Amino acid sequence: MSVVSRQDAADAATGARDAGGGDALRLSDIHMTFRSRGRRRREVVAVDGVSVSVGRGEIVGLVGESGSGKSTLGRVMAGLQVPDSGTVTIDGTAYQGRRGITPGFHGAVQMVFQSPAASLNPKMTIRSILGYAARRAGVPRDGVGSAVSAALEEVGVTPPDRFLGRFPHELSGGQQQRVALARALLHRPAYLVADEPTSALDVSVRVQIIKLIREIQAHHRMGILFITHDLSVVRALAQRALVMYRGDIVEEGDIDDVFARPQHEYTRRLLGSTPQLVPPQDAA
Ligand SMILES: Nc1ncnc2c1ncn2[C@@H]1O[C@H](COP(=O)(O)OP(=O)(O)OP(=O)(O)O)[C@@H](O)[C@H]1O
Ligand SMILES: [Mg+2]
Repeated sequence: MSVVSRQDAADAATGARDAGGGDALRLSDIHMTFRSRGRRRREVVAVDGVSVSVGRGEIVGLVGESGSGKSTLGRVMAGLQVPDSGTVTIDGTAYQGRRGITPGFHGAVQMVFQSPAASLNPKMTIRSILGYAARRAGVPRDGVGSAVSAALEEVGVTPPDRFLGRFPHELSGGQQQRVALARALLHRPAYLVADEPTSALDVSVRVQIIKLIREIQAHHRMGILFITHDLSVVRALAQRALVMYRGDIVEEGDIDDVFARPQHEYTRRLLGSTPQLVPPQDAA
């Protein structure tokens, strides 16, 4: 399904464009509390009334300490987690309703995860993993082979024929993450949520995957929420930064502003605790 037809679907729908308007994936007043069962009932407020958006064609970096709710927010954005309350809209139209995902938005938001090994079925070959995704994305049966090869080409797993018969464990970590990206791309998503997609990779591979994500974004003009602990990655990739702290977005702004003039105490601490690769006095 093309981006254009999704746009048409959005326009043809109720007409209830939200006040923010514009092409964006928008979360409004999202609440999500986890309750543990058992004798000692515990409640964790993972997301506490968050409103954020990712514009079409924009890369937004989401940072924050462990447990601050980043992944939960990302899963809500990708439609993998139904929040306790709040709404998710795409270009002004509800992404999900009582009858599931709004027609026209199936596959519109894709997610890639930290551990590609865990997100790829170990019992399936690359051919079947990607073929299955292509079928789900609506590719006709006789077009699946070429769609899968094209997706592998796009993420640099080449020549595709050499990899189609392999199982995920026969690929390197970087190649696995490329396949996970190819699987997402087969859906022609308008938005991508990338949850720490480089944290499990070696530094040199990390740089390649970041480059690839940037190329993919430039080519497809998708909107990306990039979740990471690594502030240097956000700086290299994103136009806008969101800082999450204990279930809330405590700072949001243009990437250069957030780095140059952090407003929130927590952001200052986060920036202060980032090891600098080149200390300023040695830079020259
Ligand atoms: N399925 C779940 N059941 C119970 N509690 C959960 C669940 N998912 C997340 N939580 C809790 O919600 C809070 C936020 O978790 P989340 O995974 O969103 O944080 P995070 O910012 O992604 O952390 P990290 O940087 O470690 O990945 C944590 O306290 C976590 O333990
Ligand atoms: Mg997480």
